[in-house]
Amino acid sequence: MNRIRRQPISFPIVRQRPSLSPFVFLRRRGGGDLPEPLNDARCTFYFKGRNAVWHAVKALKLTPQETILVPSYHCGADLDAIIKTGAKVEFYRVDRSATIDLEHLQRSINANTRALFIIHYFGFADPRLTEVRAMCRAHNIRLVDDCAHAMYSKSNGESLGTLGDVSVFSLFKSLPVPHGGAVRVNDPSLTVERPGTEPPAAEGFDMVHWSMEAHLRAKLGILGQAVNKITRLIRRFGGEPLHFAAKRFEKQAPCSAAVTPPPPEGCNPHVTFDLATKDWSPSRLTALIARRLDHLRVKKRRRENFQVLAGMLRGSEHLEFLHSELPEGICPLGLPIIVNDAVGLHSFLQEHRVSSDLFWKTRHDKSPDDAFPDTAFLTTHVVMLPIHQEVGEKALRQMASLVRQWGNQTQTAALA
Ligand SMILES: Cc1ncc(COP(=O)(O)O)c(C=O)c1O
Repeated sequence: MNRIRRQPISFPIVRQRPSLSPFVFLRRRGGGDLPEPLNDARCTFYFKGRNAVWHAVKALKLTPQETILVPSYHCGADLDAIIKTGAKVEFYRVDRSATIDLEHLQRSINANTRALFIIHYFGFADPRLTEVRAMCRAHNIRLVDDCAHAMYSKSNGESLGTLGDVSVFSLFKSLPVPHGGAVRVNDPSLTVERPGTEPPAAEGFDMVHWSMEAHLRAKLGILGQAVNKITRLIRRFGGEPLHFAAKRFEKQAPCSAAVTPPPPEGCNPHVTFDLATKDWSPSRLTALIARRLDHLRVKKRRRENFQVLAGMLRGSEHLEFLHSELPEGICPLGLPIIVNDAVGLHSFLQEHRVSSDLFWKTRHDKSPDDAFPDTAFLTTHVVMLPIHQEVGEKALRQMASLVRQWGNQTQTAALA
């Protein structure tokens, strides 16, 4: 069995992603529904967001001559999934504010352009989304919108993920679930293949165990550590109840993969889509947890935390906000800031047990960064600070103070 080992020491005080409260399992299925627009028969769920990208692009049935336009600023796993559909990819420019360059996009369209892939970065709708949609209609181009960061976001009152021909989501970026991706097909003339294989149950159980441990430790301090020690002892000497449960899950599954394949040799798993997992569904634990969460609270807390942290950092000379305002309806993935030395700030925060994210430092070997200096700028200057639903006010204050401290230190070092 392919078990994931996590390092228990030096736990972060603020984590990149939300951890899982064990009380979720005591809650009754909150109406049984996922949030809009995933609570709809038009949605199909997969193992990860990258699987969803693969299936969404496959559904377009592009011929070898037809091209899909992909933004220069992308995560790599999305690009890998698109390339692995066999589609011919061309790139359009995204500027330093992570906004589509409409003129460059217009110039990139030619007789072979059949599809446009857009990303709602950090949960924000592109300010020129209306023009982009009109351009697609005018040129008879399919619109695929990637809502991996934008699970609860709306633009002009309409949910992101309902506006393209087909849309994709990644659940575990916003929710404390082990995996999960989704495709929503908005044009009924398109169809996606359904997933046929469940991922190895043990992997989902391991992730959930680890996430609950992190949650208890963050919320209960020493008491949480004690509970974690006990659960570890149970796992070690008590017949591993979680794995026993995982095996039972596997037995019930119609078709379950035995192990997660190791990443193909030489490939970075962060920017790779493994075709061997293409027909995998999300683990059943993902559905079980996602349907028990309070989705209204998730969105509310993310918005509040974004505003509080942005307020605390406003006026800091050594940073700029990628988004200085939080428009109505937007549910942010994080607070992206631009600094001179993103790796420096990320490492400084890590030393102080705060996990931030670098967007997207690790590049796919087909990412054309030399041709797009603004994208190269973003991948080396953006740090996303966590503002998810589990980050409390004390943690926000700690984070703000660390970011300021780092700024003062780097400023002093530059003057010396
Ligand atoms: C914009 C975007 N799309 C798609 C993906 C793929 O999602 P997942 O990690 O769930 O495969 C990611 C992250 O990797 C992403 O940032």
